[in-house]
Amino acid sequence: MRNDRENQQVGRETAAGPERERKCGPDREKFERELDRLMESEGILKMQTFVQHSGNSTLQHVRNVAWRSFYLAERLGWSIDEKALARGAILHDYYLYNIREEGLGPYRHGTSHPAKALENAEKLYRLNLREKNIIESHMWPLTLFHPPLCREALLVCLADKYCAANEMVLLRKNLEKPRRVRRQEKQHE
Ligand SMILES: [Fe+2]
Ligand SMILES: [Fe+2]
Repeated sequence: MRNDRENQQVGRETAAGPERERKCGPDREKFERELDRLMESEGILKMQTFVQHSGNSTLQHVRNVAWRSFYLAERLGWSIDEKALARGAILHDYYLYNIREEGLGPYRHGTSHPAKALENAEKLYRLNLREKNIIESHMWPLTLFHPPLCREALLVCLADKYCAANEMVLLRKNLEKPRRVRRQEKQHE
């Protein structure tokens, strides 16, 4: 569990970071560049071999969550730390096992996998407090003592639930581009 001092530190990073100085919304190019960089990592690509909601690969799911978090920030006009959002969203389910094969029930998996994802992610990258908070809190309120403490963590927490519901109920695998963005792209063609 994070102590009070660490919680305050995440809050300070969130409120006073240089990214907060900008007035406009998130920077799509910066976010996409970081996402592309992450996709070059063999460690990240391992998620392609694990299955998540309704047969979707974990890699596709985390990409869905990353893009949905970004679009939500865009909609809200929030200035964010694009690098932290990309890294946290892509690593939020970096637990590297198939749920069924692991023999964990939904509740056990739900409460334990954020910690496992963080443990694995820290073997790959040196993460800052914001990135750690994104991973640890994405299942909140299930993980009661790990709430989102920054905008990026809140975005991923919401986008994860949206994507999981869409992948399970509507069996939509690729949610990287919402209709609004597809429309905008068509207009620019
Ligand atoms: Fe998760
Ligand atoms: Fe997830």
